[in-house]
Amino acid sequence: MDYLRKIISTLVISTSIAACVGGDDDDDHEGSTLNVIDADKTHQVLAFNDQGMHCADSDYSVFTILPPFNTVRAQVIEKAAAPRILDEGVATVSYMGVADAAGSINTTSQNQPGGIWKSNFWDTNPDTGNSYAFDLFGIDLQPDEGLLGQQMPGILNPYVANDPQPFGSYAATQAWFTADGVPIMPIDDFGQVNPYPLMRISAADSSSGDSLATLDVVLPVASEAGCQNCHATDQDYIDYPEPIDLLNAAKRNILMLHDTQHGTALASNTPVLCADCHYSEALAFTWNGGSNKTLSNVMHEHHGTVASFPSDSMEDTCYQCHPGERTDCLRGAMGSAGMECQDCHGGMLAVGSDSREPWLDEPRCESCHTGDAVDNLTADADTVVNTLDTDGNTDNIRLRQAWRVGDPSATPIIAVNARFAEQDNKLYKDSLGHGGVACEGCHGSTHAIWPSSIANDNQAAIDLQGYSGTIIECGVCHTSLPLTLGGPHGMHNVNSSAWTMEHEGFYERNPSACRACHGVNLEGTILSRTAADRNFLRDDDGDSTIHLPQGTPVGCGHCHSKP
Ligand code: HEC
Ligand code: HEC
Ligand code: HEC
Ligand code: HEC
Ligand code: HEC
Ligand code: HEC
Ligand code: HEC
Ligand code: HEC
Ligand code: HEC
Repeated sequence: MDYLRKIISTLVISTSIAACVGGDDDDDHEGSTLNVIDADKTHQVLAFNDQGMHCADSDYSVFTILPPFNTVRAQVIEKAAAPRILDEGVATVSYMGVADAAGSINTTSQNQPGGIWKSNFWDTNPDTGNSYAFDLFGIDLQPDEGLLGQQMPGILNPYVANDPQPFGSYAATQAWFTADGVPIMPIDDFGQVNPYPLMRISAADSSSGDSLATLDVVLPVASEAGCQNCHATDQDYIDYPEPIDLLNAAKRNILMLHDTQHGTALASNTPVLCADCHYSEALAFTWNGGSNKTLSNVMHEHHGTVASFPSDSMEDTCYQCHPGERTDCLRGAMGSAGMECQDCHGGMLAVGSDSREPWLDEPRCESCHTGDAVDNLTADADTVVNTLDTDGNTDNIRLRQAWRVGDPSATPIIAVNARFAEQDNKLYKDSLGHGGVACEGCHGSTHAIWPSSIANDNQAAIDLQGYSGTIIECGVCHTSLPLTLGGPHGMHNVNSSAWTMEHEGFYERNPSACRACHGVNLEGTILSRTAADRNFLRDDDGDSTIHLPQGTPVGCGHCHSKP
């Protein structure tokens, strides 16, 4: 990945040098020196899975926690000086399978002759003559059809067809197209496990049908809830006549245990949907009411209370059930920096606490990104956990734990300075930022925040701006820009010779605006790091240049004495 990043940033540099040296004869510098990314592209489609990982059972014959159900969203942007986010009146969006660099492609969730087994969701239950999907959800599904009607692109003829499927709806308030419940499974068309399958998202002009833009994004999915780690051997599952694997055995044991403890008759009424009795927000569309505890509450609280249940590390605790042992659900910037589930969510009892609403009360980006270099919560050192570098110094900007020290309910911290915050009372996945662009459009999905440790995740960012990481190149969407501090989170023009030459007035009008990211002493901070290698002229004569390698915390002193 580093290698790729280098090559591509070299390309970016060469255009920027050309712009500095010869290309810029517009003397007011207004809007002429932007490095437009892919200048021949007139549109961009930003696409993102709502969650960083979706879990789906593979065996539906005993019970199910979650069905195959991924949700992809897309915004279509017309590039311009003032970019326009297009609505359903003007654009349509579709998805189809596409091979990743390793050749893995996933177009269908149907089992195939030759032993390629993806799931039995659509298979007929011999006891009832219905599909398991129907027995569980009461919905009649075509092969490859999801619970809300979205289909896998191989539906007509799996393995031969790969027909673009339209996004089923458009949310006007969010200005995004949605494909809800695409029933993808983590087994590719060759029978290999791939929890990070790519889909190609295409936007087209709704009247002419002409293609506007495409983007390849991951629909992350895993089926490794490890109930069998503990429940496979603690009961007498050999009573069951058919040859069953460990997971199937464990699931039967769990039903028997539940029946013993709570007087239910689950074992004799398979297949069981746990969410029929224990509400799950993830399956709100199928809820019929009831007053039992929620599914998240019973799972975390009960297991968190069981004495034999391990409690400290992420591997021993959360990864017992959440995709971790084989699949990296936590694989983005924070995961790579060593943060674990508990640093953000708290432990089992915090997650299972009655005081929170599952799926809605979650940690927030702003809980750790509590502001900027001038105004943040890192000074509350006795109640927050600061981020330390290898020498033990704090970065004075970001926290490492989303909740205050000693808070057993792990209530997410709310930032006072909202520079990097979600919208009020909205989840990250539902928040919009700069210009109405979705946070996930510029940062990727939760738990997979760019740069990710998984190559397929990074593909979309690379397609958009040439390298992975936060989308920071203004020219991805803008075709021209005046000099400004009106970019995302108060950013200015990036990689722009006009900005480098003419920021004087901005500093003089409001010196603290620069300090917010460049540091209290204008020394450079993690909020002013170069996203790619940059080369700038040091003065108008053009006889001296400055090279700022990728990752340099830009300080004013890099180019001249501090003002
Ligand atoms: C790390 C070990 C471990 C894992 C993994 C695990 N469990 Fe358990 N579970 C336990 C223990 C221990 C008990 C208590 C056993 C008992 O009461 O006999 C328990 C009890 C239960 C109960 C009975 C609760 C009651 O009312 O007493 C259910 C239901 C259950 N587990 C479901 C699951 C499901 C579903 C999974 C997978 C998503 C799972 N468990 C994964 C260890 C585990
Ligand atoms: C027919 C309704 C029903 C179904 C279906 C059901 N449960 Fe329960 N479950 C209950 C009831 C009732 C309790 C008692 C506690 C309560 O009121 O929620 C309970 C308790 C539990 C507990 C222990 C909670 C505690 O605080 O001790 C766990 C764990 C649990 N269920 C997990 C599951 C899982 C996993 C499934 C799916 C395999 C499931 N349940 C399916 C009705 C159901
Ligand atoms: C015994 C199995 C099990 C273990 C261990 C477990 N989880 Fe879960 N978790 C589940 C299940 C099952 C769901 C899905 C519940 C639903 O659909 O509502 C879930 C859902 C969640 C959710 C989303 C719903 C919510 O409450 O907001 C979060 C967050 C979560 N788990 C965090 C954690 C963390 C953090 C840990 C480790 C401290 C952990 N889980 C350990 C089984 C487990
Ligand atoms: C760096 C912080 C961080 C870490 C580490 C982290 N999470 Fe999360 N998690 C979040 C945030 C933030 C959200 C809420 C996303 C939103 O608002 O849309 C979330 C949401 C979730 C959800 C709800 C579904 C979703 O994707 O929105 C689940 C389940 C979950 N986390 C489980 C886990 C598990 C299991 C781990 C460890 C393997 C983990 N998280 C590690 C920050 C974290
Ligand atoms: C538990 C605290 C915590 C939470 C919650 C958190 N972050 Fe971070 N984040 C950090 C820390 C600490 C770093 C620095 C990591 C390092 O040392 O590389 C970081 C780094 C980043 C970076 C820089 C990545 C890079 O290297 O270019 C981005 C972007 C980011 N976070 C976005 C987010 C978003 C978006 C969310 C919410 C979905 C979020 N963070 C939630 C603590 C957190
Ligand atoms: C148009 C693209 C864009 C959008 C939309 C966007 N961001 Fe950012 N985000 C950026 C850029 C560029 C940076 C880098 C700023 C810097 O390094 O000073 C950043 C940085 C961040 C950081 C990390 C700061 C750090 O410590 O490295 C967080 C957290 C963050 N954004 C959260 C969000 C949230 C939450 C939303 C939605 C409300 C959002 N962003 C929307 C472009 C965007
Ligand atoms: C992913 C697309 C995208 C990226 C990347 C992006 N912008 Fe924008 N920007 C927009 C959209 C959409 C608008 C809204 C245009 C409108 O409503 O007229 C906008 C509006 C603006 C505006 C006008 C804001 C206002 O308040 O009216 C400025 C200034 C701006 N962007 C600067 C920047 C800068 C500087 C960068 C790079 C650091 C940047 N943008 C990166 C999409 C983007
Ligand atoms: C929201 C955070 C933020 C604010 C506010 C900010 N900067 Fe920056 N600045 C950055 C980042 C990030 C970079 C590195 C961008 C890159 O090259 O990838 C940067 C780079 C620069 C550069 C080098 C050009 C470049 O593209 O690398 C100059 C010059 C500069 N800043 C001046 C200023 C001045 C003057 C102010 C105040 C008027 C200011 N900055 C305010 C984040 C900020
Ligand atoms: C990438 C190189 C670069 C960086 C980084 C940079 N500047 Fe400059 N700065 C310049 C250039 C080039 C000029 C114009 C010099 C000229 O006109 O000959 C300039 C001029 C200025 C001037 C007016 C002349 C002076 O020295 O008083 C101020 C004030 C200024 N910069 C402030 C800042 C501040 C504040 C920062 C950090 C936030 C900063 N600059 C970072 C390149 C840079």
